[in-house]
Amino acid sequence: MKLKCASFFAGVGGIDKGFELAGFKTIFANEFDYNASVTYKLNFPNVEFALCDIRGLDANKDIPDFDIMLAGFPCQAFSVAGYRQGFNDEKGRGNLFFELARIIEQKHPKVIFLENVKNLVSHDNGNTFAVISDTLEKLGYFVKSAVLNASNYGNIPQTRERIYLVCFKDKELYKNFDFPKPIKLTKTLKDVIDFETRQDDKFYYTEKCPFYKELVTGVTKSDTCYQWRRVYVRENKSKLCPTLTANMGMGGHNVPLIRMFNGEIRKLTPRECFNLQGFPQDYMLPTTICNGALYKQAGNSVVVTVIQRIAEEIKKAILN
Ligand SMILES: C[S@@+](CC[C@H](N)C(=O)[O-])C[C@H]1O[C@@H](n2cnc3c(N)ncnc32)[C@H](O)[C@@H]1O
Repeated sequence: MKLKCASFFAGVGGIDKGFELAGFKTIFANEFDYNASVTYKLNFPNVEFALCDIRGLDANKDIPDFDIMLAGFPCQAFSVAGYRQGFNDEKGRGNLFFELARIIEQKHPKVIFLENVKNLVSHDNGNTFAVISDTLEKLGYFVKSAVLNASNYGNIPQTRERIYLVCFKDKELYKNFDFPKPIKLTKTLKDVIDFETRQDDKFYYTEKCPFYKELVTGVTKSDTCYQWRRVYVRENKSKLCPTLTANMGMGGHNVPLIRMFNGEIRKLTPRECFNLQGFPQDYMLPTTICNGALYKQAGNSVVVTVIQRIAEEIKKAILN
């Protein structure tokens, strides 16, 4: 029988998808963003979904029993790009980790899988991470963590360094578990981005754009990703896509740029952003929500292939 997962801060279910591909089954998900819930439900129609603030969940009444907790908890409070306030974040986001602790205390899952920005380790001189590890240990868990870059661990041409925590209630399982080894990057940008087929006009930059001249001189190769940084074009020299972020959804010029084979310059489409997060081709994007919301969802998500590889190692540890 498949082990059951419950997913918190589920977004569009990137973590859930990785675990599903490794042979686990998500039975419950919680998320409070309506647009993300539309994408989630389209792809996981059989999962019980609670569209509400995690702070309103009663673990005993609202959440069925499960074996594995999945959570990529909000990272703004810990991110260099965010407020750098950690647990004291005035918007309270840093404290959401303690909502997970509250649920763990009541549900005692066998395994806890957490994902966050790499900066979680160094935040507040390591204090934030120490509090998280300490809390998990006090709850009776053995914790292993690693920072993995998607380009080295997920065969995906995106630079995305994230910290993963895998926590076991059983010491033997903990000893059995190791993070996956690096793998060769064989996928190129051309495998996930279409440099040839004409896309909708709205993705293209034209002479109407006030910095079009700079784009034309800066965006020169059709095998590379670029970013417009206020006054200049930044080229990614390693032929990778830079880390996709949720602020792609805020309009402006935050979505990475490419040069088509015919010389036209455009931003990536939402589908290409999901491809760069390692989502399989059969993952569906709803047509009822705007592209801004889809960009945000992609940027907030995870690289599915990295999650799948970690989940496969968790499975091995359990079957051992
Ligand atoms: C970093 S994203 C996680 C994305 C997810 N791992 C995925 O693959 O799409 C964090 C998510 O937490 C949700 N969130 C933030 N605060 C929340 C809260 N208080 N209750 C429920 N969900 C919340 C956000 O809407 C966002 O979708």
